[in-house]
Amino acid sequence: MTQLDTSISPYLASAFANDRAHVFHSWSAQGALNPAVIAGARGSRIWDDQGTTWLDFSSQLVNVNIGHQHPKLVAAIQEQAGRLCTIAPFHANDMRSEAARLITELAPGDLDMVFFTNGGTEAIENAVRLARGHTGRYKVLSTYRSYHGATGTSIQLTGDPRRWGNEPGMPGAVKFWGPYLYRSAFHATTPAEECERALEHLANVLMVEGPRTIAAITLETVVGTNGILVPPDGYLAGVRKLCDEHGIMMICDEVMAGFGRCGEWFAVDRWKVTPDLITFAKGSNSGYIPVGGVIIKRAIADTYRDKVFPGGLTYSGHPLACASIVASIGIFKEEKIVENARKLGADVIGPELEKIMARHPSVGEVRGLGVFWAIELVRDRKTRAPLVPFNASGADAKPMVELMGACKANGVWPFAHFNRLQVTPPCTITADEAREGLAGIDKALEVADRYVTD
Ligand SMILES: Cc1ncc(COP(=O)(O)O)c(C=O)c1O
Repeated sequence: MTQLDTSISPYLASAFANDRAHVFHSWSAQGALNPAVIAGARGSRIWDDQGTTWLDFSSQLVNVNIGHQHPKLVAAIQEQAGRLCTIAPFHANDMRSEAARLITELAPGDLDMVFFTNGGTEAIENAVRLARGHTGRYKVLSTYRSYHGATGTSIQLTGDPRRWGNEPGMPGAVKFWGPYLYRSAFHATTPAEECERALEHLANVLMVEGPRTIAAITLETVVGTNGILVPPDGYLAGVRKLCDEHGIMMICDEVMAGFGRCGEWFAVDRWKVTPDLITFAKGSNSGYIPVGGVIIKRAIADTYRDKVFPGGLTYSGHPLACASIVASIGIFKEEKIVENARKLGADVIGPELEKIMARHPSVGEVRGLGVFWAIELVRDRKTRAPLVPFNASGADAKPMVELMGACKANGVWPFAHFNRLQVTPPCTITADEAREGLAGIDKALEVADRYVTD
């Protein structure tokens, strides 16, 4: 499937030099970067300008849920580009209307309005804006192990260290601990205990923060980058109950977890919980065109029936982006992509990861669902000492750097974060490709095993 695009792009040969000279990259010390020059991609594979191919086990930034260059999705974008490339958000547009209709049809409960954005962080900004306007309150709670985006409000709600370089930020962004049994903040030993204690902790935080000052609780339905933390049964329902008791809006951030990633259209479907607002982006059109949005329950939308909503974006509901959402949802249904993701998790990825864990002492835990999995690496299974320290960099991060190097040498490119390898291939990956990539990771883990001390 390797195809060199050198003849197609006149810019490929100078891509690396121009990148280093002129491209300023996200979340990086610019001097240390050595990016691969990706020349093309198809399905679950990407390849560079030298013809080296990898299985894309990170779906780029966990967004290419439909796989690379899906021909029908590409054709839909081309068709829309030929018809109408852009139109201001104050006009009605066929593709925007249809995308909104399809999304709200899939969404739970009475979440039946959509505000479109250009990506995930703007979705969070606007979800919080809606919650504040609806409740007349200001504070927003979120979990320590979370990422919600890089702009003003989203980065302050983010729990992970990417927030540190952006402080001080807005007041009223309060953090709490969500459930994470393997490293329980509550000394719990069973999922039921973790659930009960995490909810008790949240109730206590609400009490001391003053529940009537809180506009929203924001959480990733299944925490993504910060660990693939699947909440124990009952947790989301418990958060829902606390929100209802205190008139607090529940915002479920499904930017990463939604649109098939968890083997559901929306991850909340698994627990049959209806939040007040859902944010989406990545998987909604697999990032073929930048897009995101907030799905809004009727009562919140009604707040703005006579009152002006104080927010807007030039590209809200961009026709190319919306046409790609319409096409993507159609393809998902036609090809049963959500079902494929669920089945892959249950029948292939989960069982294979269990076998990998049995073979490698450096694997402390494997967890996940659908095509959303983490391999948590440790130096010592008994103490659960992580393979590298929290937020490791430089020499401290060496074991993970070596491990990623070994994975890539074995033809698979997973997502690495702190002491975890995250297995998040496209929802369309075949069982054989999934096994092939996992075999590459299996072999690479010998590198991590060398650091085991017990
Ligand atoms: C859960 C979650 N929310 C929000 C965002 C921010 O999305 P974007 O990078 O599109 O702004 C991300 C990005 O990774 C995410 O994973």
